[in-house]
Amino acid sequence: MTKDFSQMEDSNPSSNLSIHDVLQSPVRRTVLLGLGALAGFGLAGCAGTREGGAAASRALGFKPVAASGVDRVVVPEGYVAAVLAPWGEPVGIAGNMPAFKLDASNSAADQAVQMGMHHDGLEYYALEGSRRGLLAINQEYTDDGLLHPDGQKTWTPEKVKKAQAAHGITVIEIEQQAGGWQLVRPSRYARRITANTPFAIGGPAAGHTLMKTAADPAGRTVLGTIGNCASGKTPWGTYLSGEENWANYFSAADTPTGHERRFGIRKATWYRWPEHDERFDTVRHPNEPNRFGWIVEVDPMDPTSTPVKRTALGRAAHEGAWVAVTQDGRAVVYSGEDARFEYIYRFVSRDKIAPAANGKTAAQANAQLLDHGTLYVARFDAGGKGQWLALTHGVGPLTAANGFADQAEVVIKARQASDLLGATKMDRPEWLAIDETTRWVYCTLTNNSQRGEPGKPGPDAANPRASNTMGHIIRWREAGDFSGENFEWNHLLLAGDPASERPEARGNIQGDAFSSPDTLAFDARGVLWIGTDVSTRSIGKGEMARLGNNQLLACNPDTGEVRRFLTGPAGCELTGATWTPDGRTMFVNIQHPGEAPSERNDPADPRRFSNWPDFSPIGRPRSATVVVRRVDGGVIGA
Ligand code: FEO
Ligand code: CA
Ligand code: CA
Repeated sequence: MTKDFSQMEDSNPSSNLSIHDVLQSPVRRTVLLGLGALAGFGLAGCAGTREGGAAASRALGFKPVAASGVDRVVVPEGYVAAVLAPWGEPVGIAGNMPAFKLDASNSAADQAVQMGMHHDGLEYYALEGSRRGLLAINQEYTDDGLLHPDGQKTWTPEKVKKAQAAHGITVIEIEQQAGGWQLVRPSRYARRITANTPFAIGGPAAGHTLMKTAADPAGRTVLGTIGNCASGKTPWGTYLSGEENWANYFSAADTPTGHERRFGIRKATWYRWPEHDERFDTVRHPNEPNRFGWIVEVDPMDPTSTPVKRTALGRAAHEGAWVAVTQDGRAVVYSGEDARFEYIYRFVSRDKIAPAANGKTAAQANAQLLDHGTLYVARFDAGGKGQWLALTHGVGPLTAANGFADQAEVVIKARQASDLLGATKMDRPEWLAIDETTRWVYCTLTNNSQRGEPGKPGPDAANPRASNTMGHIIRWREAGDFSGENFEWNHLLLAGDPASERPEARGNIQGDAFSSPDTLAFDARGVLWIGTDVSTRSIGKGEMARLGNNQLLACNPDTGEVRRFLTGPAGCELTGATWTPDGRTMFVNIQHPGEAPSERNDPADPRRFSNWPDFSPIGRPRSATVVVRRVDGGVIGA
């Protein structure tokens, strides 16, 4: 989601700064490119990684599109884009497929079996190769100005229920037919997971005192997931989703507790759920927020499976999570948290990934894999070196004397623990992508306009620009294996516009200019795709004036070349990118087309900023999954 409204989280007052002071000019930092390929790790089916062994050419073969302000999806010559699954489309549950109503008058019950709002990360799961499969899709948040016919003019329990049903995760079945990709409906796989779906709790926080509530005295079952942002696909076939902006749903006392403040929970709530669902009132239910902020795991192939919150991976404003595999077969899960001056995490599993066996699918065989292991947080040092710092109870300052009674408290208070360890405060880590061939791990740092402001941390080696309106992409590689405790790092690029008046906003992109990288994903050829999220109030203005609408770009990481591939409709953000195994179909999400600069539309004028994709005179803009194909059926981007 775009985050620059007044409630934007900025909750890290800790002073762990001094070790990151930087002397060299970051803009002049050499970008190390053209790295030799190492042996591949064969992570078949792992999103964010290269599928396949030796690298094919990563050359970009399309003619880039110009920056654009038009209210439609623009793709290069020789490509077509089609809308597949917009908000409100029935997902395909047998006997329960209510049609979307253009005036937004569908009920909460309807919404619970329709595509949710504000699509974010998505992943493809093959049923029949590249012809038929599932899409798992995050529904990050809602614009209540568009979700209800009269917005928040009245505010009722039914409206809160509808908003909660528009959140979460969707699974749909899709297939390629003569006329293009279509939903398969009904489908036994079709599923909605909402803000009220029961989740199990896995890992060290399961059953802990801080996880217990009146409704769940055992502390082992949570209702729902919210703020589901980026997506990852595990080698064992499950879906990982990050709970990002969950703090905005809660309302605290006039003076929040220190623990609440550290996670950005305050009295004001953007979504107004506590007015009709007391679970989100932390005065009445102080432990309920501890049950959000996790990476959640879903098995999209088993519609009866219970999704799980993986607490061993730490609690944060998680953008998402992505899996690499060590040479001895353990899972390494990378995760960032998108908030100003927050952190990048890594989890190394204790056990090896198990194969499907004895009647169990790989997903079932690894049902506890992410519950046992070691969590780390990253420290980026000057000179291109860095270290993973273990978030392990009893090690270093993570003791009862410092407020961590056990490992559960370490993971529930992962931010406070990371503060004590001196982790590096980053410029809003968003997506990560893993190049299994070279072992470089890439992360978008979308922007941080407060870097260097009075009272805020100044530039450091990893976050080199004050008033970082443009963002950058960092990458690192562990010594020896993905589980190595030290790493080397550098910047793939600093985003910007070379025509900017302000030197530090010019960046060093080799190719098409962009700002605010967010989505990041490798395709099977090893091309790195970058989706942008310039905030709606900034699009087309000031330093962003020449950059147009948010867009999707392709980067050849061997050469650093960047080409603009797709521009989105007015006011949208590009979120998520996934491909069929043959690389000939790409699915991308268009999130919040027509977003108002205030971030909530006026229900009396829902078409003011966009009317994509329906362009109906009685409709409203809708987030949607889009299918991109080459007219000649070739590999996307080649
Ligand atoms: Fe949901 Fe950080 O974007
Ligand atoms: Ca973003
Ligand atoms: Ca994002």
